[in-house]
Amino acid sequence: MDTIYTTTITDEARRRGIAIRVIDYDTPIFELSHGGRRVRCYNSLTDKVGAVTYEIAQDKHLANQFLRQNGISVPDQAVYRNPRQAERFLRKHGAIVVKPNKEWGARGVAVAIKTPWQLRQAVRDAAKYPDEKILLEQCVEGVDHRLIMVDYRFVAAIERTPARVVGNGKDDIRTLIRKKNADAEDPSNKVPLDNETRRNLASFGLSYGAVPRKGRRVQVRRTSNYHTGGTIRIITESVDRELVKYAEKIARLFQVPVFGVDFLVNRRARKWWVIETSADLAISPPEGEEVARHFLDYLFPATKRNRE
Ligand SMILES: Nc1ncnc2c1ncn2[C@@H]1O[C@H](COP(=O)(O)OP(=O)(O)OP(=O)(O)O)[C@@H](O)[C@H]1O
Ligand SMILES: [Mg+2]
Repeated sequence: MDTIYTTTITDEARRRGIAIRVIDYDTPIFELSHGGRRVRCYNSLTDKVGAVTYEIAQDKHLANQFLRQNGISVPDQAVYRNPRQAERFLRKHGAIVVKPNKEWGARGVAVAIKTPWQLRQAVRDAAKYPDEKILLEQCVEGVDHRLIMVDYRFVAAIERTPARVVGNGKDDIRTLIRKKNADAEDPSNKVPLDNETRRNLASFGLSYGAVPRKGRRVQVRRTSNYHTGGTIRIITESVDRELVKYAEKIARLFQVPVFGVDFLVNRRARKWWVIETSADLAISPPEGEEVARHFLDYLFPATKRNRE
């Protein structure tokens, strides 16, 4: 209940005189009430979403299938069954992503897998989450956009870019990453010095020991998650309106009024793919305060005019 993911909602609720009752402190699950209306919440998830619908949205494989059935652009995807099937999938696409089905924060996600050897390693890493299916996904090129809907209407968008370091002509990439991590204001915004970063660097023709020249900006990770050192920028005003229309359509298809849809957008090729949907999205900075206001306007319309 103390993390920013919950306090962004509860702080705004308190300002409006909405009562908060904690049901479970750690999960966290809490109940908001005002004027006789009660709503149970887990992140942005409330009892207004059906249990089956929630399952479809938070399971990356079900979501991918459901979107495909509805004509929405998604990367080709398969559930990992055995090495031969996985190698066939790799040959079909040339570059693939391996990921556990239900994790978050890029845990166990390996991007741009190109060889059978890398594939075996990636499957081993993803298998560390034993209760989950392992997914094989076509690797697509694009900038990560999250669009957020409240009451089926678009309210905010963020762009997430993978971690980068800037060369100084002296330090190697490992040192530059260490320095970047030491400077990170938020400990969860660090670049892991792990095998995935090593492999990502190799895929750009680089290594931990390479020394970028002064002023050169070097991408060091392929996942754009905040939790792997990525950067978040609010793009609510500038986001492509066409994408907004699709995001709202997707929220309606799922029947999830408060919804996050993650797109990889390739402007050059004029293409996009949906890679993830969140029915229990974490409402957090930088866009979170605005989203929390819309969220509470939606749940408790009577508190709307109490806004500062
Ligand atoms: N098919 C793909 N092609 C290219 N890159 C991908 C693909 N799938 C995932 N990625 C990259 O990996 C990142 C993490 O993947 P994904 O969003 O599926 O995992 P996650 O751990 O659930 O993240 P979140 O914390 O957002 O829930 C994405 O943000 C994107 O940068
Ligand atoms: Mg994601």
